[in-house]
Amino acid sequence: MRNLNEFNITDAVLESFAETPSPRLKEILGILVRHLHDFAREAKLTEAEWMEGIRFLTATGHQCNNVRQEFILLSDTLGLSQLVVAQNNSRPEDATEQTLFGPFHVPGAPRLDAGSDMAAGRKGAPCFVTGSVTAGGRPIRNAVVDVWQADAEGFYDVQHEAWSPEAMTLRAVFETDTNGRFFFRTVLPASYPIPVDGPVGDMLRATHRHPMRPAHIHFMIAADRHETLITHVFVDGDPHLESDAVFGVRSSCIGRYIRHEPGPAPDGTTMSEPFYTMTHEFVLNPVQAAAGA
Ligand code: BEZ
Ligand code: FE
Repeated sequence: MRNLNEFNITDAVLESFAETPSPRLKEILGILVRHLHDFAREAKLTEAEWMEGIRFLTATGHQCNNVRQEFILLSDTLGLSQLVVAQNNSRPEDATEQTLFGPFHVPGAPRLDAGSDMAAGRKGAPCFVTGSVTAGGRPIRNAVVDVWQADAEGFYDVQHEAWSPEAMTLRAVFETDTNGRFFFRTVLPASYPIPVDGPVGDMLRATHRHPMRPAHIHFMIAADRHETLITHVFVDGDPHLESDAVFGVRSSCIGRYIRHEPGPAPDGTTMSEPFYTMTHEFVLNPVQAAAGA
């Protein structure tokens, strides 16, 4: 009979996984146990602290439902989500960087014609967005461009109680033209706090961290024979660019949203209020380049 102590217990647990049929599951569980045990030893975790950790994770689970995923929010705020995205999407330098997905994408957003206004009356300064989708310097036609964003008060449509799938706003799907370009009207996004009414909010308050994300528009761009790009275009000059609560900002993802006085807009209309334009190039990575990299 082996007497287990705080040091040899790690090998005993690793040995208990010896018959795991899946080599990958065995590997992941082994690494997890080694790091968990090292964590407890290094932190000299007390029983009360272990219990507090269990309570925190239990509360995190209780906060999850069909429209709220507090565990993903925890992963986001600990930098784990962006770490996993980064280590699985290393791309050539000229390709647009992949960023975390976030919880506010809704599949099946309306397909709108080029130039449409996806704000449909939501609050905010008008903003005209023009994008080009290229790879290796060549335009990609018929790329599917899925877009979603918060309004001027920092809310996604799904965060309003009256929301239903029939009433999607500030989200739409566009398609690139023969020159690889797309164009739509929206409102200037605002920075917003991630949900803080659950355990993740408790963690942020306990560590004196703010909950803000810098203002951004999300893009998911899919094209045949290219890796699907999931990224953001952040608003240059936003005070939270250096301290995004979920660590999602990449310098290549900062866009220039230019303010204009009232007057002619890119869609040919005349604006009676100040408006913004934003032009951004999205560079996709061909699938074969990814496989050979
Ligand atoms: C978002 O950008 O929509 C988001 C990402 C991570 C956590 C919360 C919100
Ligand atoms: Fe967002």
